[in-house]
Amino acid sequence: MAKNRLISKTVFVFICISLISSVFGRITPKNTKITILNVSESIKNAKNVVSRDPDNLKNFRQQEQSIRSSSSSSSSSSSPLTLELHSRLSLHKPTNGEDYRSLFLEQLKRDSEREKSLNLRLDLAIRGISESDLKPAEVELEEQQVGNLEGPIISGTSQGSGEYFSRVGIGSPPKPVYMVLDTGSDVNWVQCEPCGDCYQQADPVFEPTQSSSFKPLTCESQQCKSLDVSECRNGTCLYEVSYGDGSYTVGDFVTETLTFTGSKAVDDVAIGCGHNNEGLFIAAAGLLGLGGGSLSLPSQINTTSFSYCLVDRDSDSTSTLEFGGQPVLPPNSVTAPLLRNGQLNTFYYLGLTGISVGGDMLSIPPTSFEMDESGNGGIIIDSGTAVTRLQTDVYDTLRDAFVRGAQDLPSANGVALFDTCYDLSSKTSVEVPTVSLHFPEGKSWALPAKNYLIPVDSVGTFCFAFAPTSSALSIIGNVQQQGTRVSLDLANSLVGFSPDKC
Ligand SMILES: *[C@@H]1O[C@H](CO)[C@@H](O)[C@H](O)[C@H]1NC(C)=O
Ligand SMILES: *[C@@H]1O[C@H](CO)[C@@H](O)[C@H](O)[C@H]1NC(C)=O
Ligand SMILES: *[C@@H]1O[C@H](CO)[C@@H](O)[C@H](O)[C@H]1NC(C)=O
Repeated sequence: MAKNRLISKTVFVFICISLISSVFGRITPKNTKITILNVSESIKNAKNVVSRDPDNLKNFRQQEQSIRSSSSSSSSSSSPLTLELHSRLSLHKPTNGEDYRSLFLEQLKRDSEREKSLNLRLDLAIRGISESDLKPAEVELEEQQVGNLEGPIISGTSQGSGEYFSRVGIGSPPKPVYMVLDTGSDVNWVQCEPCGDCYQQADPVFEPTQSSSFKPLTCESQQCKSLDVSECRNGTCLYEVSYGDGSYTVGDFVTETLTFTGSKAVDDVAIGCGHNNEGLFIAAAGLLGLGGGSLSLPSQINTTSFSYCLVDRDSDSTSTLEFGGQPVLPPNSVTAPLLRNGQLNTFYYLGLTGISVGGDMLSIPPTSFEMDESGNGGIIIDSGTAVTRLQTDVYDTLRDAFVRGAQDLPSANGVALFDTCYDLSSKTSVEVPTVSLHFPEGKSWALPAKNYLIPVDSVGTFCFAFAPTSSALSIIGNVQQQGTRVSLDLANSLVGFSPDKC
């Protein structure tokens, strides 16, 4: 009898759970333990990357009409300002002989540079060292061009080597160019004639004399004063952003009209008109700073929210970057607190409370993800870092749990910064333990398997795509964000994650 009652109780509980999970099915996946990785699809996409039509740029030219025909009047309508968003690989045809693996290793090298530079930037801010007090390691500035402007040592080739791009119209009439998207910096800039030193880009270099909306900023302007590094020349403002590895951009700080998709234009956006630029990503004309500082694009256009969806890096598909728009957070979003650092307002921090693998919470002290009073630690969400970085002990706990849950997969040697790899060449699809990020109020974001078990070549080697860092700062990278719309609700300090809203 007692046994029967126990069974019926168990059945009752089971039915209740089933009911609850079907009602809340959109929030709580039915099976939180296991996720399917479509191995054939990942390999197919990886193969696609290295056999792609080199003239992919023509695909992007289709939007030109809508950008070129701007009437250059500020838009105040409530529909969002939108830009198309492309991945690096969809823009940049690998040169002859480069295979997926070498492309991938190059990317990981850039990624380490970026991680270092984000940490350096934060370190300088926390120690209260003005970036202008530091002499760039190798930058030799041309005296007559830039006076004695000295720049911050940040970022390596990191920002210029961005992984995602948008096409933006600059000036009046608007000239469409590719711009790197970067949530880890604020200053917008574009290469500008006359070029003392310009790297190669896909479109003609911007020519200020052909734009009726080009206006130099004075040294007294608020925008000029907001720069980390500025200099006054004859009353007008010069800017510099430079990088520890010798790459940099220097020039006039001006305002210009930017044109978005559908010919919507915003006047008087402060941008750098860079006459000396070096070492940045070939093809892009410049960079859009999407950080939280006052000179970033979201701040300048006074938007209370923006969202982006990072398309799969190996795919040709495009998605959008939207400023404003309703609803701010899509209805099925998982939300997390958006936190800021009093020492540096550029980065977007996340209120992460824990990580689970295969449905089991890892035993990680919550302080591992918290920022301390001095501004150290915490976890930021970044568009330009590829692989998520976690403090070493957190990473080890996560990796060990994953390895235990993925015992059935044939293992392979580590690759670069990845110590956990598998040979899936004989598989078409595999089950892997689900990795979820947890936020306050019981919310969780279950990552798709392809966002953490990723191909490192096109013949079936996959690696667990998290990495340890010796820094206190953790970073959610773009590999983990792929295919998810990330919405930053700046007004309400929330970050939303919505699967399949690209
Ligand atoms: C894997 O993806 C391919 C498309 O590339 C699809 O045809 C196939 O059905 C998928 N397999 C599974 C198990 O979902
Ligand atoms: C400063 O401006 C004056 C007047 O506009 C001009 O004559 C002079 O050449 C400028 N000097 C420099 C260094 O550009
Ligand atoms: C943003 O707000 C500032 C200050 O209120 C204002 O000067 C500026 O014109 C606004 N910009 C846009 C694009 O609305």
